[in-house]
Amino acid sequence: MKGGSIVTVNEANQYIQINKEKVINRYRHNYHVMAPIGWINDPNGFSLFKDEYHLFYQYYPYDSEWGPMHWGHAKSKDFIKWETLPVALAPDQPYDVGGCFSGSAMQIGEELYLMYTGHTDPDKENPEAVREVQCLAKSTDGIAFEKCSKNPVISSDEVPGHARIQDFRDPKIWEKDGKYYVVIGSKRKDYKGQILFYTSEDLENWKYLNRFTLEEDFGTVWECPDLFMLDCRDVLIMSPQLLPEGKYGSQNIYACIAAIGNFDYSTGDYHVEHYQQLDSGFDFYAPQTVKAKDGRRIMIGWMNMWERESPLKDLGHYWRGSMTLPRELFIKSNKVYQQPVKEIQNYRKNKEIFYGLNINEEHSLEHIKLQSHELYIELDNMENKVLDIDLFKNGDESLKLTVDGIKKEVRLDRSNIGYSIESKNKPKDYIRKQSIDSMKEGIKLNIFVDVSSVEIFINDGEYVMTSLVYPKNEGHIAFRSSDLVTIKKFLKWDICV
Ligand code: FRU
Repeated sequence: MKGGSIVTVNEANQYIQINKEKVINRYRHNYHVMAPIGWINDPNGFSLFKDEYHLFYQYYPYDSEWGPMHWGHAKSKDFIKWETLPVALAPDQPYDVGGCFSGSAMQIGEELYLMYTGHTDPDKENPEAVREVQCLAKSTDGIAFEKCSKNPVISSDEVPGHARIQDFRDPKIWEKDGKYYVVIGSKRKDYKGQILFYTSEDLENWKYLNRFTLEEDFGTVWECPDLFMLDCRDVLIMSPQLLPEGKYGSQNIYACIAAIGNFDYSTGDYHVEHYQQLDSGFDFYAPQTVKAKDGRRIMIGWMNMWERESPLKDLGHYWRGSMTLPRELFIKSNKVYQQPVKEIQNYRKNKEIFYGLNINEEHSLEHIKLQSHELYIELDNMENKVLDIDLFKNGDESLKLTVDGIKKEVRLDRSNIGYSIESKNKPKDYIRKQSIDSMKEGIKLNIFVDVSSVEIFINDGEYVMTSLVYPKNEGHIAFRSSDLVTIKKFLKWDICV
């Protein structure tokens, strides 16, 4: 529906009101951002406006598949409880009629500005006809947005000669010393990835400053870049499309990389000191950050993935896509770590705790029927030992999380649980792995379960594995090992929002 015709914000909001009751709740989360109905992808415009956090997202309300992009919208005082707001942008102008693609937001004076990509694709048969330009919209109440009459503020003419005008998107804006800067995802004319930096005094006139690129194979478009300061270092995050498998541990071809380094504001040069993957699960892409009121750097990502089938579509649930838990970032030992925002602790209920449980065969916690929980599992020395943690266990089925002290890795296997989730580009793509240097000191797992998602924070956030799962039946937790493994400490809370 709606293909090719101009759709407005009013039409989208009306459609949502009339149709949102059709959504089937079975796999809806309880404490993650979702749209009322339809498809969502990237987080956009994560910002602080008049004391509240605003989060926009790539949105197609009319189907549970991607379509011409709108910006959905929600706000929160604490990153956990979100209020859905009306759709903020619709593809209703000649320069964005193919979609209001990803971008960012910033409070300037008393107004909230959005900077986004206007995408047009006038000839579906010819990808070369695509154009991507950068646009502005603003609002005084943080709800209704007006697109700027000067749009596009960065047109195809202002794209440097080495970059494709067809792949020029996802502006992330920030201000420093009275000047605005923006980092934009790009593809070189030889199809390698890069990002472009621009600067402006007034938001309407932008000057190309420099680019960051690599000669090695590092994917094509570096989508959704974000540059910010963290613990006195610069950090650049980006989501390269088609990253070669194995690069920085990536097992998804749509990967997400952080590069700690140093940005030179006078030349626009970015020097990288360390690269890493940000999440080693199945479902994490296109994250964006905001600086919280108290200075913390908070990141949120799209909890889904391109080129995957979703059972939600086949089951006719009328929705697909959600956001991860907002995560606080910090640097430790030259690495970006992630921790769920501390505000989630205010929603913990019904604590259960035990210490020193020895597993030598199987131990089930049948009374913990997994729905929306936080689990904390601390294991003693795991060197040369293997422990399976079965999540959503029911009969032979489970989402299997293995702590493998022989291979020195944590593995997540979703081959034997509920509705299968198939990758379009790789058959039977059911396992994700995170290698761990040493398990001698034990291992700590902080796991957030929310009906159809798990986010596993390993060793205080050194690694995270985010994944979706669609169990067919109610399930519990069980531990299995043929070695003698000691669970030093186990905690469970229900998360009630
Ligand atoms: C990333 C992305 C962006 C683009 C948006 C379109 O997931 O491909 O580059 O702006 O999604 O929905």
